[in-house]
Amino acid sequence: MHFFEYKKGELHAEDVPVSTLANEFGTPLYIYSFKTLERHVKAYEKAFSSIPHVICYALKANSNTSIIKLIGSLGGGADVVSGGELYRALKAGIPADKIAYAGVGKTEDEIRLALKSNILMFNVESEQELAEIDRIAGLMKTGAPIALRVNPDVDPQTHPYISTGLKKNKFGIPFEDAIEHYRLAAKLKNIRIVGIHKHIGSQLTKVSPFVDALKRILLLVDELSATGIRISHLDIGGGLGITYNDETPPDPAALAKNILPLLKGRDLTLVLEPGRSIVGNAGILVAKALYLKKAPEKNFIVVDAGMNDLIRPSIYGAYHHIQPVVKNRRKNTIADIVGPICESGDFLAKDREIQIVNRGELLAVMSAGAYGFTMSSQYNSRPRVAEVMVKGSEYALIRKRETYADLMKGETIARFV
Ligand code: LLP
Repeated sequence: MHFFEYKKGELHAEDVPVSTLANEFGTPLYIYSFKTLERHVKAYEKAFSSIPHVICYALKANSNTSIIKLIGSLGGGADVVSGGELYRALKAGIPADKIAYAGVGKTEDEIRLALKSNILMFNVESEQELAEIDRIAGLMKTGAPIALRVNPDVDPQTHPYISTGLKKNKFGIPFEDAIEHYRLAAKLKNIRIVGIHKHIGSQLTKVSPFVDALKRILLLVDELSATGIRISHLDIGGGLGITYNDETPPDPAALAKNILPLLKGRDLTLVLEPGRSIVGNAGILVAKALYLKKAPEKNFIVVDAGMNDLIRPSIYGAYHHIQPVVKNRRKNTIADIVGPICESGDFLAKDREIQIVNRGELLAVMSAGAYGFTMSSQYNSRPRVAEVMVKGSEYALIRKRETYADLMKGETIARFV
Protein backbone atom coordinates (compact mmCIF):
# COMPACT_ATOMS: atom_id res chain seq x y z
CA MET A 1 0.00 0.00 0.00
CA HIS A 2 1.19 3.48 -0.75
CA PHE A 3 0.12 7.07 -1.19
CA PHE A 4 0.93 7.63 -4.85
CA GLU A 5 -2.43 7.99 -6.51
CA TYR A 6 -4.10 9.71 -9.43
CA LYS A 7 -6.31 12.66 -8.67
CA LYS A 8 -8.09 14.05 -11.71
CA GLY A 9 -5.76 12.12 -13.99
CA GLU A 10 -2.59 13.45 -12.37
CA LEU A 11 -0.30 11.29 -10.29
CA HIS A 12 0.14 12.71 -6.80
CA ALA A 13 2.62 11.99 -4.06
CA GLU A 14 0.21 12.28 -1.14
CA ASP A 15 -1.36 15.72 -1.78
CA VAL A 16 1.29 17.08 -4.13
CA PRO A 17 1.15 16.64 -7.91
CA VAL A 18 4.26 14.78 -9.04
CA SER A 19 4.64 17.25 -11.91
CA THR A 20 4.94 20.14 -9.43
CA LEU A 21 7.90 18.41 -7.81
CA ALA A 22 9.45 17.54 -11.17
CA ASN A 23 9.15 21.17 -12.25
CA GLU A 24 10.68 22.48 -9.07
CA PHE A 25 13.49 19.95 -8.59
CA GLY A 26 14.04 18.64 -12.10
CA THR A 27 14.26 15.05 -13.31
CA PRO A 28 15.24 12.33 -12.73
CA LEU A 29 13.90 12.63 -9.22
CA TYR A 30 13.26 10.24 -6.36
CA ILE A 31 10.10 11.06 -4.40
CA TYR A 32 9.24 9.43 -1.08
CA SER A 33 5.97 9.45 0.80
CA PHE A 34 6.18 10.11 4.54
CA LYS A 35 2.78 8.56 5.21
CA THR A 36 3.67 5.36 3.40
CA LEU A 37 6.87 4.99 5.39
CA GLU A 38 5.00 5.69 8.60
CA ARG A 39 2.30 3.20 7.74
CA HIS A 40 4.83 0.46 7.06
CA VAL A 41 6.84 1.00 10.23
CA LYS A 42 3.66 1.13 12.29
CA ALA A 43 2.43 -2.08 10.66
CA TYR A 44 5.56 -3.86 11.92
CA GLU A 45 5.36 -2.26 15.35
CA LYS A 46 1.73 -3.25 15.73
CA ALA A 47 2.16 -6.77 14.42
CA PHE A 48 4.87 -7.60 16.95
CA SER A 49 3.67 -5.44 19.85
CA SER A 50 2.78 -8.47 21.98
CA ILE A 51 6.42 -9.43 22.52
CA PRO A 52 9.66 -7.51 23.16
CA HIS A 53 11.03 -6.57 19.75
CA VAL A 54 13.23 -4.17 17.80
CA ILE A 55 12.55 -3.30 14.17
CA CYS A 56 16.09 -2.79 12.87
CA TYR A 57 15.47 -1.10 9.52
CA ALA A 58 17.98 -2.33 6.91
CA LEU A 59 19.73 0.84 5.82
CA LYS A 60 21.01 -0.70 2.62
CA ALA A 61 17.52 -0.39 1.15
CA ASN A 62 17.59 3.38 1.48
CA SER A 63 19.97 5.27 3.73
CA ASN A 64 18.79 8.83 3.28
CA THR A 65 19.08 10.56 6.66
CA SER A 66 15.50 11.86 6.65
CA ILE A 67 14.21 8.34 6.08
CA ILE A 68 16.36 6.85 8.84
CA LYS A 69 15.34 9.65 11.19
CA LEU A 70 11.66 9.16 10.50
CA ILE A 71 11.94 5.42 11.14
CA GLY A 72 13.91 6.09 14.32
CA SER A 73 11.26 8.52 15.54
CA LEU A 74 8.72 5.72 15.27
CA GLY A 75 10.82 3.50 17.51
CA GLY A 76 12.85 1.73 14.84
CA GLY A 77 16.48 0.69 15.09
CA ALA A 78 18.96 -0.08 12.33
CA ASP A 79 20.55 -3.05 10.61
CA VAL A 80 23.88 -1.87 9.22
CA VAL A 81 26.46 -3.62 7.08
CA SER A 82 29.35 -1.16 6.99
CA GLY A 83 31.07 1.56 8.96
CA GLY A 84 29.37 4.06 6.67
CA GLU A 85 25.91 2.75 7.47
CA LEU A 86 26.75 2.69 11.18
CA TYR A 87 27.87 6.30 10.91
CA ARG A 88 24.66 7.26 9.13
CA ALA A 89 22.46 5.44 11.66
CA LEU A 90 24.14 7.15 14.60
CA LYS A 91 24.05 10.57 12.90
CA ALA A 92 20.34 10.13 12.24
CA GLY A 93 19.83 9.54 15.96
CA ILE A 94 19.24 5.78 16.08
CA PRO A 95 20.12 4.66 19.62
CA ALA A 96 23.25 2.48 19.51
CA ASP A 97 21.52 -0.24 21.49
CA LYS A 98 19.09 -0.67 18.62
CA ILE A 99 21.79 -1.23 16.00
CA ALA A 100 22.72 -4.68 14.70
CA TYR A 101 25.81 -4.96 12.52
CA ALA A 102 25.93 -7.70 9.86
CA GLY A 103 28.12 -8.40 6.84
CA VAL A 104 30.73 -10.97 5.86
CA GLY A 105 33.64 -8.56 5.59
CA LYS A 106 33.90 -6.30 8.64
CA THR A 107 37.25 -4.51 8.83
CA GLU A 108 39.22 -3.66 11.95
CA ASP A 109 38.29 0.03 11.72
CA GLU A 110 34.62 -0.84 11.36
CA ILE A 111 34.73 -3.25 14.30
CA ARG A 112 36.41 -0.58 16.42
CA LEU A 113 33.78 2.01 15.53
CA ALA A 114 31.00 -0.43 16.43
CA LEU A 115 32.62 -1.35 19.75
CA LYS A 116 33.19 2.29 20.61
CA SER A 117 29.55 3.03 19.82
CA ASN A 118 28.17 0.26 22.06
CA ILE A 119 25.90 -1.30 19.47
CA LEU A 120 23.29 -3.95 20.28
CA MET A 121 25.21 -6.76 18.58
CA PHE A 122 27.53 -7.90 15.83
CA ASN A 123 25.97 -10.50 13.58
CA VAL A 124 29.06 -12.61 13.07
CA GLU A 125 29.46 -14.55 9.85
CA SER A 126 32.60 -16.70 10.34
CA GLU A 127 34.98 -18.20 12.86
CA GLN A 128 37.80 -15.87 11.82
CA GLU A 129 35.58 -12.85 12.19
CA LEU A 130 34.65 -14.01 15.68
CA ALA A 131 38.32 -14.29 16.62
CA GLU A 132 39.02 -10.87 15.15
CA ILE A 133 36.20 -9.21 17.09
CA ASP A 134 37.44 -10.90 20.28
CA ARG A 135 40.98 -9.69 19.63
CA ILE A 136 39.94 -6.10 18.95
CA ALA A 137 37.55 -6.00 21.92
CA GLY A 138 40.44 -7.24 24.08
CA LEU A 139 42.70 -4.46 22.85
CA MET A 140 39.94 -1.96 23.57
CA LYS A 141 39.35 -3.54 26.99
CA THR A 142 35.70 -4.06 26.30
CA GLY A 143 33.27 -6.90 25.65
CA ALA A 144 31.71 -7.47 22.23
CA PRO A 145 28.03 -8.43 22.12
CA ILE A 146 27.50 -10.95 19.34
CA ALA A 147 24.98 -13.10 17.57
CA LEU A 148 26.11 -15.76 15.15
CA ARG A 149 24.51 -15.58 11.75
CA VAL A 150 23.43 -19.10 11.04
CA ASN A 151 22.71 -20.26 7.54
CA PRO A 152 19.65 -22.47 7.92
CA ASP A 153 19.82 -23.89 4.39
CA VAL A 154 16.24 -23.01 3.54
CA ASP A 155 15.21 -22.05 0.03
CA PRO A 156 13.65 -18.56 0.10
CA GLN A 157 12.20 -19.11 -3.39
CA THR A 158 13.38 -15.78 -4.70
CA HIS A 159 15.88 -14.49 -7.29
CA PRO A 160 19.25 -16.30 -6.92
CA TYR A 161 21.15 -13.02 -6.57
CA ILE A 162 19.12 -12.06 -3.51
CA SER A 163 18.84 -15.45 -1.85
CA THR A 164 21.27 -15.81 1.01
CA GLY A 165 20.24 -18.72 3.19
CA LEU A 166 21.29 -21.68 1.11
CA LYS A 167 24.37 -23.84 1.73
CA LYS A 168 25.95 -22.56 -1.45
CA ASN A 169 25.66 -18.88 -0.39
CA LYS A 170 28.58 -17.01 1.20
CA PHE A 171 26.53 -15.89 4.18
CA GLY A 172 26.50 -17.12 7.75
CA ILE A 173 27.79 -20.15 9.55
CA PRO A 174 26.63 -23.55 8.31
CA PHE A 175 23.77 -24.92 10.37
CA GLU A 176 25.74 -28.06 11.28
CA ASP A 177 28.64 -26.02 12.66
CA ALA A 178 26.59 -23.52 14.65
CA ILE A 179 26.70 -25.25 18.05
CA GLU A 180 30.44 -25.76 17.83
CA HIS A 181 30.92 -22.09 16.94
CA TYR A 182 28.80 -21.01 19.88
CA ARG A 183 30.88 -23.20 22.20
CA LEU A 184 33.96 -21.53 20.83
CA ALA A 185 32.43 -18.08 21.26
CA ALA A 186 31.53 -18.89 24.86
CA LYS A 187 35.20 -19.55 25.57
CA LEU A 188 36.42 -16.26 24.13
CA LYS A 189 37.15 -13.77 26.90
CA ASN A 190 35.98 -10.62 25.20
CA ILE A 191 32.88 -12.01 23.53
CA ARG A 192 29.44 -11.80 25.07
CA ILE A 193 26.85 -14.04 23.40
CA VAL A 194 23.53 -12.25 23.14
CA GLY A 195 21.79 -13.58 20.10
CA ILE A 196 21.30 -15.72 17.08
CA HIS A 197 20.72 -14.36 13.59
CA LYS A 198 19.43 -15.57 10.26
CA HIS A 199 18.44 -13.89 7.04
CA ILE A 200 17.57 -16.11 4.11
CA GLY A 201 16.93 -13.71 1.27
CA SER A 202 15.02 -10.77 -0.04
CA GLN A 203 11.71 -10.21 -1.82
CA LEU A 204 10.16 -13.31 -0.25
CA THR A 205 6.54 -13.62 -1.24
CA LYS A 206 5.60 -16.60 0.91
CA VAL A 207 5.57 -17.02 4.64
CA SER A 208 6.68 -20.67 4.67
CA PRO A 209 10.43 -20.09 4.22
CA PHE A 210 10.34 -17.72 7.23
CA VAL A 211 8.59 -20.37 9.29
CA ASP A 212 10.84 -23.21 8.15
CA ALA A 213 14.00 -21.22 8.85
CA LEU A 214 12.75 -20.08 12.24
CA LYS A 215 11.92 -23.62 13.28
CA ARG A 216 15.45 -24.68 12.49
CA ILE A 217 16.93 -21.75 14.39
CA LEU A 218 14.77 -22.52 17.42
CA LEU A 219 16.18 -26.07 17.48
CA LEU A 220 19.57 -24.47 17.92
CA VAL A 221 18.31 -22.10 20.62
CA ASP A 222 17.09 -25.11 22.59
CA GLU A 223 20.25 -27.08 22.06
CA LEU A 224 22.29 -24.10 23.17
CA SER A 225 20.23 -23.60 26.25
CA ALA A 226 20.79 -27.27 27.14
CA THR A 227 24.53 -26.62 27.05
CA GLY A 228 24.17 -23.53 29.24
CA ILE A 229 24.37 -20.91 26.49
CA ARG A 230 21.47 -18.51 26.81
CA ILE A 231 20.26 -16.48 23.86
CA SER A 232 18.36 -13.28 24.63
CA HIS A 233 17.95 -11.87 21.09
CA LEU A 234 16.51 -13.73 18.14
CA ASP A 235 17.15 -11.88 14.90
CA ILE A 236 15.09 -13.25 12.03
CA GLY A 237 16.48 -10.85 9.41
CA GLY A 238 14.49 -9.06 6.74
CA GLY A 239 13.23 -10.18 3.39
CA LEU A 240 9.49 -9.63 3.29
CA GLY A 241 8.58 -8.92 -0.31
CA ILE A 242 6.46 -6.17 -1.83
CA THR A 243 4.12 -5.91 -4.77
CA TYR A 244 6.04 -4.80 -7.85
CA ASN A 245 3.69 -6.38 -10.34
CA ASP A 246 1.24 -9.08 -9.33
CA GLU A 247 2.98 -10.57 -6.29
CA THR A 248 0.86 -10.98 -3.17
CA PRO A 249 3.41 -11.10 -0.37
CA PRO A 250 2.36 -11.50 3.25
CA ASP A 251 2.20 -8.27 5.25
CA PRO A 252 3.85 -7.88 8.69
CA ALA A 253 0.61 -8.96 10.38
CA ALA A 254 0.55 -12.21 8.39
CA LEU A 255 4.20 -12.80 9.16
CA ALA A 256 3.55 -12.21 12.85
CA LYS A 257 0.54 -14.48 12.84
CA ASN A 258 2.69 -17.32 11.55
CA ILE A 259 5.77 -16.83 13.66
CA LEU A 260 4.53 -15.53 17.01
CA PRO A 261 3.02 -18.90 17.98
CA LEU A 262 6.48 -20.46 17.56
CA LEU A 263 7.88 -18.00 20.09
CA LYS A 264 5.26 -18.49 22.77
CA GLY A 265 6.67 -19.02 26.24
CA ARG A 266 10.18 -18.08 25.15
CA ASP A 267 12.02 -15.27 26.82
CA LEU A 268 13.39 -13.72 23.66
CA THR A 269 13.59 -10.23 22.22
CA LEU A 270 12.72 -10.51 18.56
CA VAL A 271 14.79 -8.50 16.10
CA LEU A 272 13.61 -7.95 12.53
CA GLU A 273 15.57 -6.33 9.73
CA PRO A 274 13.08 -5.20 7.10
CA GLY A 275 14.30 -2.96 4.34
CA ARG A 276 12.29 -3.27 1.15
CA SER A 277 8.92 -3.80 2.84
CA ILE A 278 9.31 -0.47 4.61
CA VAL A 279 10.67 1.75 1.89
CA GLY A 280 10.09 -0.04 -1.43
CA ASN A 281 6.60 1.14 -2.19
CA ALA A 282 7.21 4.44 -0.42
CA GLY A 283 9.30 5.76 -3.28
CA ILE A 284 9.05 6.46 -7.00
CA LEU A 285 11.56 7.58 -9.59
CA VAL A 286 10.31 10.25 -11.96
CA ALA A 287 11.86 10.42 -15.40
CA LYS A 288 11.24 12.55 -18.46
CA ALA A 289 10.83 11.18 -21.97
CA LEU A 290 13.61 12.60 -24.11
CA TYR A 291 13.19 10.87 -27.43
CA LEU A 292 11.01 8.30 -29.12
CA LYS A 293 12.83 5.97 -31.43
CA LYS A 294 11.61 3.38 -33.84
CA ALA A 295 14.02 0.57 -34.65
CA PRO A 296 13.10 -2.22 -37.09
CA GLU A 297 11.97 -4.54 -34.31
CA LYS A 298 11.31 -2.27 -31.39
CA ASN A 299 9.97 1.01 -30.18
CA PHE A 300 12.17 2.78 -27.69
CA ILE A 301 11.22 5.47 -25.25
CA VAL A 302 14.48 7.10 -24.21
CA VAL A 303 14.15 8.71 -20.81
CA ASP A 304 16.53 10.77 -18.71
CA ALA A 305 16.86 8.13 -15.94
CA GLY A 306 19.22 5.26 -16.53
CA MET A 307 20.69 2.17 -14.98
CA ASN A 308 22.97 4.39 -12.94
CA ASP A 309 19.85 5.80 -11.22
CA LEU A 310 17.93 2.52 -10.88
CA ILE A 311 19.91 -0.61 -11.61
CA ARG A 312 17.38 -3.26 -10.53
CA PRO A 313 15.90 -3.96 -14.00
CA SER A 314 19.40 -4.28 -15.50
CA ILE A 315 20.91 -6.65 -12.96
CA TYR A 316 17.98 -8.69 -11.70
CA GLY A 317 15.62 -8.32 -14.63
CA ALA A 318 13.39 -6.73 -11.99
CA TYR A 319 9.95 -5.51 -12.93
CA HIS A 320 8.95 -1.95 -12.02
CA HIS A 321 5.60 -0.62 -13.02
CA ILE A 322 5.95 2.48 -15.18
CA GLN A 323 3.09 4.87 -15.60
CA PRO A 324 2.46 8.32 -17.05
CA VAL A 325 2.45 11.13 -14.51
CA VAL A 326 -0.43 12.71 -16.39
CA LYS A 327 -2.93 10.22 -17.77
CA ASN A 328 -3.97 10.69 -21.37
CA ARG A 329 -6.45 9.11 -23.72
CA ARG A 330 -3.93 7.89 -26.23
CA LYS A 331 -3.71 4.29 -27.32
CA ASN A 332 -1.26 1.84 -25.82
CA THR A 333 1.97 0.89 -27.47
CA ILE A 334 4.67 -1.65 -26.71
CA ALA A 335 8.10 -0.24 -26.08
CA ASP A 336 11.39 -0.66 -24.30
CA ILE A 337 11.90 2.15 -21.83
CA VAL A 338 15.60 2.85 -21.85
CA GLY A 339 18.08 5.27 -20.33
CA PRO A 340 20.88 7.37 -21.77
CA ILE A 341 23.74 5.11 -20.62
CA CYS A 342 25.98 3.56 -23.24
CA GLU A 343 25.07 -0.05 -22.52
CA SER A 344 22.43 -2.31 -23.99
CA GLY A 345 21.67 -3.42 -20.44
CA ASP A 346 20.47 0.09 -19.65
CA PHE A 347 16.73 -0.32 -19.53
CA LEU A 348 13.95 0.29 -17.05
CA ALA A 349 11.46 -1.94 -18.84
CA LYS A 350 11.42 -4.26 -21.83
CA ASP A 351 8.51 -4.86 -24.21
CA ARG A 352 6.26 -2.92 -21.92
CA GLU A 353 2.71 -1.99 -22.81
CA ILE A 354 2.29 1.67 -22.04
CA GLN A 355 0.20 4.59 -23.20
CA ILE A 356 1.84 6.42 -26.08
CA VAL A 357 4.26 8.93 -24.66
CA ASN A 358 5.31 12.20 -26.23
CA ARG A 359 8.63 13.96 -25.83
CA GLY A 360 8.93 15.92 -22.60
CA GLU A 361 6.27 13.94 -20.76
CA LEU A 362 6.91 12.53 -17.34
CA LEU A 363 6.89 8.86 -16.38
CA ALA A 364 6.81 7.45 -12.87
CA VAL A 365 8.80 4.31 -12.13
CA MET A 366 6.92 2.81 -9.22
CA SER A 367 8.18 0.89 -6.17
CA ALA A 368 11.62 2.42 -6.50
CA GLY A 369 12.14 3.40 -2.86
CA ALA A 370 14.25 0.35 -1.96
CA TYR A 371 17.62 -0.39 -3.57
CA GLY A 372 17.03 2.52 -5.93
CA PHE A 373 19.05 5.50 -4.82
CA THR A 374 21.36 3.42 -2.61
CA MET A 375 22.49 1.38 -5.61
CA SER A 376 22.80 4.37 -7.87
CA SER A 377 26.14 5.52 -9.23
CA GLN A 378 27.72 8.25 -11.28
CA TYR A 379 28.43 5.92 -14.20
CA ASN A 380 28.86 7.85 -17.46
CA SER A 381 29.60 10.85 -15.19
CA ARG A 382 25.99 11.43 -14.43
CA PRO A 383 25.45 13.33 -11.17
CA ARG A 384 23.32 11.42 -8.66
CA VAL A 385 19.75 12.66 -8.66
CA ALA A 386 17.81 14.65 -6.07
CA GLU A 387 15.51 13.13 -3.45
CA VAL A 388 12.35 14.73 -2.10
CA MET A 389 10.06 13.70 0.75
CA VAL A 390 6.37 14.57 0.78
CA LYS A 391 4.10 14.71 3.80
CA GLY A 392 0.54 15.70 2.99
CA SER A 393 0.81 18.97 1.09
CA GLU A 394 4.28 19.70 2.47
CA TYR A 395 7.48 18.64 0.82
CA ALA A 396 11.21 18.95 1.35
CA LEU A 397 14.35 18.37 -0.64
CA ILE A 398 16.16 15.66 1.35
CA ARG A 399 19.16 15.33 -0.95
CA LYS A 400 20.36 17.86 -3.46
CA ARG A 401 21.03 16.85 -7.01
CA GLU A 402 24.77 16.49 -7.45
CA THR A 403 26.59 18.97 -9.64
CA TYR A 404 29.28 18.40 -12.24
CA ALA A 405 31.77 19.68 -9.65
CA ASP A 406 30.58 16.95 -7.28
CA LEU A 407 31.58 14.40 -9.89
CA MET A 408 35.20 15.39 -9.45
CA LYS A 409 35.10 15.86 -5.70
CA GLY A 410 38.10 14.31 -4.03
CA GLU A 411 40.04 13.79 -7.24
CA THR A 412 43.54 15.17 -7.54
CA ILE A 413 45.78 15.27 -10.55
CA ALA A 414 48.82 13.04 -10.20
CA ARG A 415 52.02 15.09 -10.40
CA PHE A 416 53.33 12.81 -13.17
CA VAL A 417 50.54 13.39 -15.66
N1 LLP B 1 19.24 -8.21 6.68
C1 LLP B 1 20.27 -8.71 5.97
C2 LLP B 1 21.34 -9.43 6.66
C3 LLP B 1 20.29 -8.52 4.58
O1 LLP B 1 21.31 -9.02 3.87
C4 LLP B 1 19.25 -7.82 3.93
C5 LLP B 1 19.26 -7.61 2.49
C6 LLP B 1 18.20 -7.31 4.73
C7 LLP B 1 18.23 -7.54 6.10
C8 LLP B 1 17.06 -6.55 4.16
O2 LLP B 1 16.31 -7.32 3.29
P1 LLP B 1 14.92 -6.77 2.71
O3 LLP B 1 13.94 -6.67 3.86
O4 LLP B 1 15.16 -5.45 2.10
O5 LLP B 1 14.53 -7.79 1.73
N2 LLP B 1 19.61 -5.21 -4.11
C9 LLP B 1 18.62 -6.25 -4.06
C10 LLP B 1 18.32 -6.68 -2.66
C11 LLP B 1 19.54 -7.13 -1.85
C12 LLP B 1 19.21 -7.49 -0.44
C13 LLP B 1 20.43 -7.71 0.35
N3 LLP B 1 20.20 -8.00 1.72
C14 LLP B 1 17.38 -5.78 -4.81
O6 LLP B 1 17.37 -4.67 -5.31
O7 LLP B 1 16.42 -6.51 -4.92
